[in-house]
Amino acid sequence: MNAGVQRGRYRAVLTGAGGGIGAAIARRLAPQAELLILVGRQRVPLEALAAELSGTRVEIVCGDLCEDATVAKVAAAARQGAVNLLVNNAGVSGFHAFETQDAQAIRRLVDTNLVAPMLLTRALLPQLGLAPGAQVVNVGSVFGALGFPGFAAYGAAKAGLAGFSQSLRRELADTTIAVRHFSPRATRTAINSAAVDAMNRELKTAEDTPEAVAEAFMRFLAGSAAQHVVGARERFFVLLNKLLPGLPDNAIRKQLVQIRKHLPR
Ligand SMILES: NC(=O)c1ccc[n+]([C@@H]2O[C@H](COP(=O)([O-])OP(=O)(O)OC[C@H]3O[C@@H](n4cnc5c(N)ncnc54)[C@H](OP(=O)(O)O)[C@@H]3O)[C@@H](O)[C@H]2O)c1
Repeated sequence: MNAGVQRGRYRAVLTGAGGGIGAAIARRLAPQAELLILVGRQRVPLEALAAELSGTRVEIVCGDLCEDATVAKVAAAARQGAVNLLVNNAGVSGFHAFETQDAQAIRRLVDTNLVAPMLLTRALLPQLGLAPGAQVVNVGSVFGALGFPGFAAYGAAKAGLAGFSQSLRRELADTTIAVRHFSPRATRTAINSAAVDAMNRELKTAEDTPEAVAEAFMRFLAGSAAQHVVGARERFFVLLNKLLPGLPDNAIRKQLVQIRKHLPR
């Protein structure tokens, strides 16, 4: 075990734990965790993951995080387990021409990626306030900081999550709870449709494995930076987009013909 890695340091709630990035994070977090509360809608992948993580106390909370009852169940488990880390990782994506994107799908994107992590965070704050060195880590996306065609609703929700993370971090700056934001770039998981995979291949978009993202996540978790974007090139483009948004506007405009070939409408 590396210097600085403390066994049993975390008592964590991890949402979306049955998914690609979530399961990879759970495997990396487990050796440093006294308790992992794995949250997702489907029980089977959560149970399979729990069976792998022998040596760590694991609990499963199964339910839809867009429902108040699930948030209440997770909060009760977190209180019981004296949780000191909340990782809001559950998410859904939606690659579609915005004009014809289904209204329900848009609501679901905002509910799952923004409203659910906000309400779960709110429900856990009383418990996190009792735990020294507590952290909330929100998993966003590069597309929350660098708007991309086909991801207007997803990007809006993830941009909202980044804004929420920053505002709450500042609101809680005189408490012991740190609020942090971690943004993966394209990662090979089931969240990406065949159309997104095909577009990424055509655009030669850099893609990470979930394991590489989990490794970056663990480095971030051990440090103290408020936010992190995975990928040096993506970090550069996010900064450029803030300072001179016209440059990425022009670069992405040149890719539109290729993007539209894959964009469901
Ligand atoms: N993969 C990428 O390219 C990429 C890039 C940037 C950011 N991200 C972000 O990384 C995070 C993890 O994504 P991933 O790539 O690992 O996707 P994934 O494999 O599809 O995993 C997402 C997980 O979220 C859970 N989830 C979705 N909606 C939920 C809900 N309403 N209630 C409870 N759980 C819910 C799903 O659990 P169930 O299946 O059990 O419902 C699933 O296990 C997401 O926030 C995503 O936006 C991913």
